[in-house]
Amino acid sequence: MSLSPQFLDELRTRTLLSALIGRTTKLQKAGREFRACCPFHNEKSPSFYVNDEKGFYHCFGCGAHGDAIRWMTDQRGLPFMDAVKELAQAAGMEVPAADPRSRDKAERASSLYDVAGKAAEWFAEQLAGIGGSEARAYIERRGVTPETVRNFNLGFAPDSRGKLKSALASLGQDKLVETGLLIAAEDKEPYDRFRGRLIIPIRDPRGRVIAFGGRIIGQGEPKYLNSPETVLFDKGRTLFNLDRASAASRKSGRLIVVEGYMDVIALDQAGIGEAVAPLGTALTEGQMERLWRLVDLPILCFDGDAAGQKAAIRAAVRALPMLGPGRSLRFVSLPAGQDPDDLIRTRGRAALEALLAEPEPLVDRLWRHELAAEPLTTPEARAGFRRRLANHAETIRDGDVRGQYMAEFRRRFDALYESAKPRARAPQQRFGGRQTRWQPAFQPATEQAKSLAGSGMERLMTRAILAGLLRHPREIAAHSEAIAALPLTDPPLDRLRSVLLDAAFGASVLEEQQLETILASTGLKGLADELRGTNGLAFSFLRSNADSDRAARDLGVAIETLAARPELDAALAAATARLMEAPDEAGFAEQRRLRAAREEADRSLAALAQPQDGAAY
Ligand code: UTP
Ligand code: MN
Repeated sequence: MSLSPQFLDELRTRTLLSALIGRTTKLQKAGREFRACCPFHNEKSPSFYVNDEKGFYHCFGCGAHGDAIRWMTDQRGLPFMDAVKELAQAAGMEVPAADPRSRDKAERASSLYDVAGKAAEWFAEQLAGIGGSEARAYIERRGVTPETVRNFNLGFAPDSRGKLKSALASLGQDKLVETGLLIAAEDKEPYDRFRGRLIIPIRDPRGRVIAFGGRIIGQGEPKYLNSPETVLFDKGRTLFNLDRASAASRKSGRLIVVEGYMDVIALDQAGIGEAVAPLGTALTEGQMERLWRLVDLPILCFDGDAAGQKAAIRAAVRALPMLGPGRSLRFVSLPAGQDPDDLIRTRGRAALEALLAEPEPLVDRLWRHELAAEPLTTPEARAGFRRRLANHAETIRDGDVRGQYMAEFRRRFDALYESAKPRARAPQQRFGGRQTRWQPAFQPATEQAKSLAGSGMERLMTRAILAGLLRHPREIAAHSEAIAALPLTDPPLDRLRSVLLDAAFGASVLEEQQLETILASTGLKGLADELRGTNGLAFSFLRSNADSDRAARDLGVAIETLAARPELDAALAAATARLMEAPDEAGFAEQRRLRAAREEADRSLAALAQPQDGAAY
């Protein structure tokens, strides 16, 4: 329904925006405006402004922007008309009957809902009736229970060009055409669109039927036939099952996006109600906005085959501009050639839960995709890789998130190629500009932690540890086993490790001076100097002024933790794989335990990398 622009202007003028926003957000006067910590994103210093004269609010941090009506829809979550009604009431205004044209449209729409609803009932009756036996057998073969049939109000369209048309004739033929139930081709009598198909009603977020998907019974083309776009049905804004999934998602705090109708239905039947699907197209911006209204981190659960993974990447790239603090997507790749429906049928819900428990953050999915796009064996290829990453990051509109992505990609890239750089930096530059390039590397968040392995961060850590050992050579003997187990693939670093281990075994107590001599004689002095000079992680064992007991202790923790990491990762992967084969409670407990252990490991590494109470370094 649309209201006249004059009415809306009047409504805005009569609403004091600061008073409206001030009801839920603490505002401070700032000149002619008001200022606050933005209610649309998490922040500590205020960048959200309210301007009563202009009737707008604006956040310089996240870009949230709008007027009083927008505030009510975006912040309070009201539908547009309800927002208008509430504001009008507060302003003492009467909401006018909309102008005749839009009233017509609204009335037409409301009766079209009715038509679509009646058609859904009719389809359901056909499925239950004698003509529906083949469809019922098909449903049963697929393992869909009668309860699920009721929950989704599944139906059947008889294989006939005129059954629906005559059965629903009283609703008006033009309306049947307008809802897409009849096809009206030129100079032909309108005829039934859906023939000989299992019918899946598509509902809007308020639960009203707006369209249908029709699956062929058995084999045939096209597999699915969908309603055309109509007054009721905007394909790019609709998500199948959103109405029922919202309620389930509020309970579970989770929202899962799958590729097909039958996947949603299978998940629901297996007790996972919080699943939705786009309608045979790539996920649109409008659909993502809808997802984010329910949860901050929806999980996209797509087929592991090339098509499914392409869809995942496309969604990731499309989501980038809209990311916000805390707001992103996560990804689960299924075994190739299996959709969630297959997986649940062959291995049960628990197998799917095992995968859902380990979703991949967007940043990792994108990094992995670009890393695998081509072999990075030439400088050009590496530069191209870096450019693609930067281009992705640049599309992020939110300044803070964009900065974080830039920094993260740069960190990972540098960590991958650090040793390829010339060793021109002299050791005296140790406290110079290069050091500050590295921010404290780890956030204790699990998501961040998960990315440790493939990201190059691991390599950065091993370099820090080697640099630490050069400073504290006595610790080599104390941790030789873990040092030998460090994940170290770079040949020069590997060699340095061997030399360090040999040196420690050769001396009763290895002193720094003695080590210098050995390094010089083995030609590793340059590498050692570079290591000591280029690592800027804030570890106590890299600081010359740190308490030496603490430095030694921290170094020990770093070594032992990092050395245990690959084993932990492997165990977790194995546990997840086992769960996929034979899910049971013990398996899930094991998976949880390993995940907790990995988080704990990453947390202790993160804690080491934080500068301690103002210590200079
Ligand atoms: P899939 O081909 O993966 O189908 O299409 P599916 O969901 O696994 O279906 P079953 O299990 O074989 O019955 C995924 C989605 O793409 C859309 C539908 O929305 C479908 O659920 N699609 C697919 C179409 O719209 N038309 C088609 O011809 C095929
Ligand atoms: Mn399927």
